[in-house]
Amino acid sequence: MTSISMIGKLTTMFSRAFESCGLDPRLSRVIISDRPDLGQFQCNGALAAARAEKKNPKAIAEAVIEALQDRHIFSDISIAGAGFINLTLTDAFLASHMEEMAGDDRLGCAKTSQPRNVIIDFGGPNVAKPMHVGHLRSTIIGDCLQRLLRFTGENVTSDIHLGDWGLQMGMLICELRRRQPELPYFDASYAGPYPDKTPVTIDDLEEMYPLASARCKGDEREMESARTATAELQQGRPGYRALWSHFVNVSVNALKDDFGKLGVSFDLWRGESYYNERLPGMIEQLKERGNARVSEGAVVIPVSSPSDKKEVPPLILEKSEGGYLYGTTDLATIEERTGELNADLVLYVVDKRQHLHFEQVFRAARIVSLARNTGLEHIAFGTMNGPDGKPFKTRAGGVMKLKDLISMVTENALVRMRENRIAEDFDEPERQSIARQVGIATLKFADLGNHRTSDYVFDLANFSRFEGRTGPYLLYTAVRIKSILRKAKDEGLDPGPILAPTVPVERELMLNLSWLPEKITNACAERAPNYLCDFVYTLAQVFSRFYQQCHILSEKDPAVQSSWLALSQLCLRELELVLSLLGMNVPERM
Ligand code: ARG
Repeated sequence: MTSISMIGKLTTMFSRAFESCGLDPRLSRVIISDRPDLGQFQCNGALAAARAEKKNPKAIAEAVIEALQDRHIFSDISIAGAGFINLTLTDAFLASHMEEMAGDDRLGCAKTSQPRNVIIDFGGPNVAKPMHVGHLRSTIIGDCLQRLLRFTGENVTSDIHLGDWGLQMGMLICELRRRQPELPYFDASYAGPYPDKTPVTIDDLEEMYPLASARCKGDEREMESARTATAELQQGRPGYRALWSHFVNVSVNALKDDFGKLGVSFDLWRGESYYNERLPGMIEQLKERGNARVSEGAVVIPVSSPSDKKEVPPLILEKSEGGYLYGTTDLATIEERTGELNADLVLYVVDKRQHLHFEQVFRAARIVSLARNTGLEHIAFGTMNGPDGKPFKTRAGGVMKLKDLISMVTENALVRMRENRIAEDFDEPERQSIARQVGIATLKFADLGNHRTSDYVFDLANFSRFEGRTGPYLLYTAVRIKSILRKAKDEGLDPGPILAPTVPVERELMLNLSWLPEKITNACAERAPNYLCDFVYTLAQVFSRFYQQCHILSEKDPAVQSSWLALSQLCLRELELVLSLLGMNVPERM
């Protein structure tokens, strides 16, 4: 597909000009101007070309401009500083570009012609333990990346990678034994499955886990029993497996519910347990090939490199007393993903505090030649903090359950809507549904709005306002455009050809609209959803100014009026697209 993105078009023009001047066309990239006072776009390639050719950059810039075809699309081309080329488009060209974008169902955004198999490992909650905010961030960021990469045409498979194989399982088994020792599962000779009707529900699990965990922390003997139970479970003791599979089912159903409310879904619901069978064989093979070795009784892969500034300890695959670790499973997961799943790229959306773990695992994968043609990336993120600057908690200081967090933002949305007299005369089900969408938008925009690696304070009062850089403001702006278009339609007004701008704010709106494909490409390349947040927020603000100055519904000139309607429609499509990539739904009205 030929690109109809503005940046694509301009870059093509410049690369032809570079080529005809005998310069490297790869240096010709045109970008959005960072000096809007000097031009709308800029090309800085003359400087690099001059360095390569050992020539004067200004002279190169002049030659490139001279060689440009279709120069009539610019109303101004100038050279600034050492050889930066600043570009301003004619209004006619800008308007015709808007028409082209409006006529394209992808709004000028290219789709890759060589899709890669991308696996996104995100969410990663632990079964039976309450979700913590790290899992929430991973879920929101990971889901956004899954939407983005899918939109650009990649073959995306998302995998939740449940923590379903750890010590909490042994703790829960021991806790249940304490409560109901008469159950048959604790019998070493137990052989049947877990019955369908069981007294252990998700509420029971959530109640049992903190008690069990506290008991183990306070008593080494309890901890030892939990460890033993975990080891026996992992070795396949039937009664424990039966309990375990029941705990997992109960938790997965609850998680599906919670994630459904967030609008997040996964293609694969695999957990750490899924790889259990692979571990012994993998370790044997690595030992045979000399990749893994025994050190102080443990099986390890040394991964340090002479250039390390800090020590990178070996990846431990098997402890001296037996038993596998987090890293063992992650290595086996890579074996599966690069093998059976044929992944070209695997993204791990996990808290930045796990940086060293992924460094070790990725190095080990390279050393043992598991990921020869597969990119492995840790998409790290910072913490969502409470007002005290510490990881977000309930008022009582406990872990906030996802369910409760969603209720909290929804309740709060209802209050804010009432204050702003939004959805006032709608019936209750519609008002509730809008509140849910506003609540989710509040949460997601707060979480995606800053660069993922920074920590941020989740200040609900601030993030739920209907003005400013918030999710609710963006939904509101999109809904307002919907209502303008609806009113116009009721009055028999239709969008028509987009004409050259008549006022500066209209030109500004068009320029912002023309940036969409570039913003999506950049957000994808940097795995940085906050670029999209910046983009939609600016777009919404420019639209509001445009709407203030250009009174669409009362405009006298029908050609101008229908052009404005078409521009508003285009703006709405961009807002809706980007908000959907961010994981937000725009209500029909509010
Ligand atoms: N369950 C893990 C945790 O709670 C996160 C899993 C991340 N994914 C992975 N492949 N290690 O820390």
